[in-house]
Amino acid sequence: MSPAMIPPITVTTPQDGLFSESLISPDVSASLPQGYQLRALRRTDFNSGFLDCLRVLTTVGDISEEKFQKQYDNMVAREDYYIIVIEDTSREKNSVVATGALIVEHKFIHSLGKVGHIEDIAVSKDQQGKKLGLRLIQALDFVAEKIGCYKSILDCSDANEGFYVKCGFRRAGLQMAHYY
Ligand code: ACO
Repeated sequence: MSPAMIPPITVTTPQDGLFSESLISPDVSASLPQGYQLRALRRTDFNSGFLDCLRVLTTVGDISEEKFQKQYDNMVAREDYYIIVIEDTSREKNSVVATGALIVEHKFIHSLGKVGHIEDIAVSKDQQGKKLGLRLIQALDFVAEKIGCYKSILDCSDANEGFYVKCGFRRAGLQMAHYY
């Protein structure tokens, strides 16, 4: 291979996130309580409180650090995963206190349109009621709009409908499922 054909090596640091910093909404960042930071999930978030945060939502299971990083690397390679976290930078341990995900579906309809799927919204129990859930949704809406999604959709329980209505969503359709 001639030197001109050697692909450039991308050097990543632990501070690099799952997606570009340019997709972090400055307005949402500015509206967080003092000391809280909005950022993309990082490969180093195994011990940051991210998984504990997800435990308010459902079972997470016993995940090793190696498996966590492998899953993260898979998501980096897919380029369609946008997992955002809110960190309380005043905490030394378990500083991630809220998280949410946007997964992008590529379609043929709507001129090769993209749909955002909002998933796994979770705010630590002791941090609920501080508008962090609302900020997560606003931050994911910013990503979805910037990357060209024509809509974002989500499934939720009846108990959470009021929260999503407050975030600007409206009921549309009916969910059906096959579980395997
Ligand atoms: N029902 C009705 N209204 C609600 C609810 C609810 N369950 N939760 C919050 N709200 C209202 C708040 O009162 C607030 O209203 P206001 O603007 O009039 O004051 C507004 O919604 C924004 O509330 P936040 O403070 O941003 O909510 P919070 O940070 O507590 O996050 C969340 C809400 C994400 C539901 C949180 O309670 C949580 O993590 N719950 C457990 C996990 C969960 O159920 N996640 C959602 C799963 S669905 C999915 O992932 C697509």
